[in-house]
Amino acid sequence: MSHAEDHDSSRRDFLYYATAGAGAVTAGAMVWPLVDQMNPSADVQALSSIRVDVASVVEGQQLTVKFLGKPVFIRKRTPEDIELARDWDVDQLRDPDSRNPNKPGPATDANRTLDDAGTWLVMIGVCTHLGCVPIGNQSGDFGGWFCPCHGSHYDSAGRIHKGPAPENLHIPVASFVDETTIQLG
Ligand code: FES
Repeated sequence: MSHAEDHDSSRRDFLYYATAGAGAVTAGAMVWPLVDQMNPSADVQALSSIRVDVASVVEGQQLTVKFLGKPVFIRKRTPEDIELARDWDVDQLRDPDSRNPNKPGPATDANRTLDDAGTWLVMIGVCTHLGCVPIGNQSGDFGGWFCPCHGSHYDSAGRIHKGPAPENLHIPVASFVDETTIQLG
């Protein structure tokens, strides 16, 4: 990937982040009005779950939202992403754990994605080495995410293949509440 493309990828990530901040994310509408500012537990409860509207995300795009203080990547994968990820056998992987509380077990592609078709991949965007935010949009040597801090390469399912990171990118508790809304938490 050229520097120009690299730059474009970062810019796209930023633009989606900005869009999300402007309104694509709604924090628990039923909970907000009940928040008592003097009561930290109510505050924590309000932030423990958010809903993200993904209706406008097109194939090949990644939305980045902030959840529980961390970036969460929501990528609508391309058929190429899916094919690349499904080519790997679990015994070829450095970390054989799905790191997915929604689908515990081996790190197959099916156990990493939110939907059965494998279109939606939702991950905590924090490198499992020392916590940098990896660059996405088919970056790195394995067509997924690349962490420039010390050179960790993740595949298109967010699984680690090369570099110092020991574990696959972690996946948050997530689910579809309707066709175009993902709930985190
Ligand atoms: S923090 Fe990602 S490679 Fe070190």
